[in-house]
Amino acid sequence: MSVADRERWDERYARYLSGEKEPAFKTDELLLNHGALFQGDGDALDVATGLGGNALWLSEQGYRTTAVDCSANGLSLLSAEAARRNVAVDTQIVDLDDWQWPGQAFDVLCVFRFLNRNLFDAMNDSLRPGGLLVYQTFNTNFLIDKPGFNAEYVLADNELNESFANFEVVVNDQTGSTTRYIGRKT
Ligand SMILES: C[S@@+](CC[C@H](N)C(=O)[O-])C[C@H]1O[C@@H](n2cnc3c(N)ncnc32)[C@H](O)[C@@H]1O
Repeated sequence: MSVADRERWDERYARYLSGEKEPAFKTDELLLNHGALFQGDGDALDVATGLGGNALWLSEQGYRTTAVDCSANGLSLLSAEAARRNVAVDTQIVDLDDWQWPGQAFDVLCVFRFLNRNLFDAMNDSLRPGGLLVYQTFNTNFLIDKPGFNAEYVLADNELNESFANFEVVVNDQTGSTTRYIGRKT
């Protein structure tokens, strides 16, 4: 990624550090609504974690949780909140474009509001057999309301099903402008 892109994300999270905005550390409903799938055994990765509300939740379920993002500011807010809750989250400042993804290292891999198709193979390889991929981001319907949005960053119809063809589909909800997907690696 470019320096300008990383600085843009850091500036966004700096508003929380300065107190201008209140961080919410929100857990997404896709996880909460399917909580029974997440038994807390093993290792979890939250990709492009942001403020890390989902990483915190995974850690609270019992997973050894790693949260990766390019923004040092976002991750410092996450670390402070993890300490406040007395849970462990391993935060790593990485550029996902260049990251050496560990092979077969995770039992849960979450991606929320981030799309880089070049990373799909690495995500697949990073999950252990039986592991869960949780993916939620905008789909092409989003362009109806926001035609100026970069079409590269929205999912096509059934794109995750097709890209992760070796996964058993648990959830594939494409209603509205967001795709909510959970698949189990076979
Ligand atoms: C829209 S936010 C989503 C954050 C979080 N997953 C959520 O749903 O709240 C996208 C995140 O991706 C991170 N990001 C974007 N490009 C990245 C890259 N190449 N490497 C690492 N992180 C990146 C940004 O810092 C930002 O936190």
